[in-house]
Amino acid sequence: MNADPAPLPRILILASGSGTNLQALIDASRERDFPGQIVAVGCNRPGAPALERASNAHIDTFVVDHTEYDSREAFDGALMAEIRRHNPDLVVLAGFMRILTTDFVRALRGTMLNIHPSLLPKYTGLGTHQRVLDAGDTVHGVSVHFVTEELDGGPVIAQAEVTVDPDDTADSLAEKVRQKEHLLYPIVVRWFCEGRIQLGSDYVLFDGDLLRQPMRLPDDRVTH
Ligand code: GRF
Repeated sequence: MNADPAPLPRILILASGSGTNLQALIDASRERDFPGQIVAVGCNRPGAPALERASNAHIDTFVVDHTEYDSREAFDGALMAEIRRHNPDLVVLAGFMRILTTDFVRALRGTMLNIHPSLLPKYTGLGTHQRVLDAGDTVHGVSVHFVTEELDGGPVIAQAEVTVDPDDTADSLAEKVRQKEHLLYPIVVRWFCEGRIQLGSDYVLFDGDLLRQPMRLPDDRVTH
């Protein structure tokens, strides 16, 4: 008699807004060979479109409304309780617009990813597209990184670039970057679920080797 196959890694996604990255992950997770299962989507804003996307895909949702908590610690405590209830192997931040406390981040060390719309370490924080334009950069992009205590500062796993054209605006750049995000995030989540990426003390291990440069998605393909 065949043994039951090992259960797929459990993925929990946190999102605050439109949830287009969430949608890309939902779509990828429907591929037959996807090595993980999305078990829940959490949100800090009641009524956010991300919640509807999850419900449409018949994924469990929960809301922890940050306006109902008078401290970051209280909010993060409630959020962690919800996360624990779903027992995830991986927590994916997909446009989750809350700064998380150190204790929260430490508790999920090595098992939490974030996507940030810049070529980190450049432009941590908000308003990245306008800051790229103001600086006159000709290349911009997106990074997926492990979450550590430093905001947008954890070791970068993979990046994708976009070209900044003379007529680009913050909105057009946001759209170009978003297209790359939707390609890149499912690839990195897949790697995690396959056990290919791990967080070291302040570096990433890829297939057991130190990753000296983030993986790159120059066109539609990732190269090492
Ligand atoms: C993305 O640009 C992502 O890089 C940033 O938040 C945005 C989320 O967009 N962290 P969406 O909600 O996935 O459309």
